[in-house]
Amino acid sequence: MKHLLKLGDLSREELLSVLNLADQLKYERKNGIRGEYLKGKKLGMIFQKSSTRTRVSFETGMYELGGYALFLSNRDLQIGRGEPVEDTARVLSRYLDGIMIRTFEQKEVEDLAKYGSIPVINGLTDYCHPCQVLADLMTVREHKGAFKGLKLCFIGDGNNMAHSLMVGAVKTGMKFSIACPKGYEPDAALVKWAKENGEFMMTEDVAEAAKNADVLYTDVWASMGQEEEKEKRIKAFSGFQINADIMRAAKKDAMVLHCLPAHRGEEITADVFEAHADEIFEEAENRLHAQKAVMCKLMK
Ligand code: CP
Ligand code: NVA
Repeated sequence: MKHLLKLGDLSREELLSVLNLADQLKYERKNGIRGEYLKGKKLGMIFQKSSTRTRVSFETGMYELGGYALFLSNRDLQIGRGEPVEDTARVLSRYLDGIMIRTFEQKEVEDLAKYGSIPVINGLTDYCHPCQVLADLMTVREHKGAFKGLKLCFIGDGNNMAHSLMVGAVKTGMKFSIACPKGYEPDAALVKWAKENGEFMMTEDVAEAAKNADVLYTDVWASMGQEEEKEKRIKAFSGFQINADIMRAAKKDAMVLHCLPAHRGEEITADVFEAHADEIFEEAENRLHAQKAVMCKLMK
């Protein structure tokens, strides 16, 4: 494992080994064991979009590992004024030991890895969100004990979250179903891959997708960068919601996960959100452990 550009780049063994290390780091932290596995290492964190969880979990994660994290906003970097990513990659590689980047185009992340000489971690693009899904998988396994035989259902936009969840579910042997409105389906190439490599189902019928699900997952209807489509999307996604009715279609002990931030009354009702708040905030905490594991794997 040289980078984390997208989940599909990891073999099943690599993915499970990150999750195992994440569990270990969580255990160590809970028991006051401070392993400074990245003592003296420096991580640059480039943000072209807003963030609460990703920024704070990477920054505190690096601190806990004995390293140092630099927050680099595109408002301040020359990249925000058009300096090519090829040059930024080669410059940052001479100062840092790793780069985390949150941006729009997946190609920018891939180029950073291609032209630089240090590990690159994708902290969200329009295409995928691998760090989030590592934390999600960790949370599912903590609650359910294992992946095999589980059904994960995603309700909403065929977006970055849907893409990484599809890949994560297939790689860990879970069934995956998605309910999305026409015109908002996930990437066709990924759908083809998921069908060929796992159990994949796509429908416009939310209850059908949620039937017997062990994990229900949703995300915002309008992602970062789609602010202008908000009104149009509110109409298109009406009904694509996790609510009490949908919970009845799923298994009795189904978990509810959300990458956050959540819009109550849109993709999830406030009552379902609060009933599953413990799972959702455990999931948010697990960002820290999962990303510490990723950084150890890549930067140690
Ligand atoms: N889930 C997630 O990535 O949150 P942030 O946008 O706050 O980083
Ligand atoms: N799909 C959302 C995820 C946020 C963590 C977005 O891209 O804005």
